[in-house]
Amino acid sequence: MAWIAKNSATMQIDRRDEPYLTLALKKQLEDDVIPRYDTRMAATMPALHLVQDTHGWLPHQAIEEIADFLGLPASQVLDTATFYEEYWLKPHGKYVIWVCQSLSCEILGQPALINKIKTHLGIEVGETTDDGKFTLMDVECLGSCGTAPCALVNHKLHENITAENFQSVLDALE
Ligand code: FES
Repeated sequence: MAWIAKNSATMQIDRRDEPYLTLALKKQLEDDVIPRYDTRMAATMPALHLVQDTHGWLPHQAIEEIADFLGLPASQVLDTATFYEEYWLKPHGKYVIWVCQSLSCEILGQPALINKIKTHLGIEVGETTDDGKFTLMDVECLGSCGTAPCALVNHKLHENITAENFQSVLDALE
């Protein structure tokens, strides 16, 4: 969960002419997603995912476009997007490293592991390397406690991680 304090009154929204929620994405939502729900509001999360999967993150212009499309206040869609840490309100690196910080992983070496990653990449949790290659995040239990410590790199799960074997995982990424 990510609570983000926002200064809505004075916030400037970067805008571009081309919509993020394109006609093709609207059609996909109308045809494949909205019929599954009783209300358009219920399609908020799938719509956020679709736009994020297409563009990599969720600019505020996209939030407004989704709200307009679903007939909701933009603040309501933004509240949903800021509640879940899976939604990105700023660009992230090509590879997002999610290191599990829950109990099993913590007991089996997560603190030393994440410190090693931070040192290797030169960033703190929540930051992206200057070359845009890596973003480092922590996350609650990944559901693989029996093979702790664990981390995701994008959607791929890595288990029984040591500082050494994870270094070779990172080195192998283009
Ligand atoms: S505690 Fe890390 S996978 Fe469950």
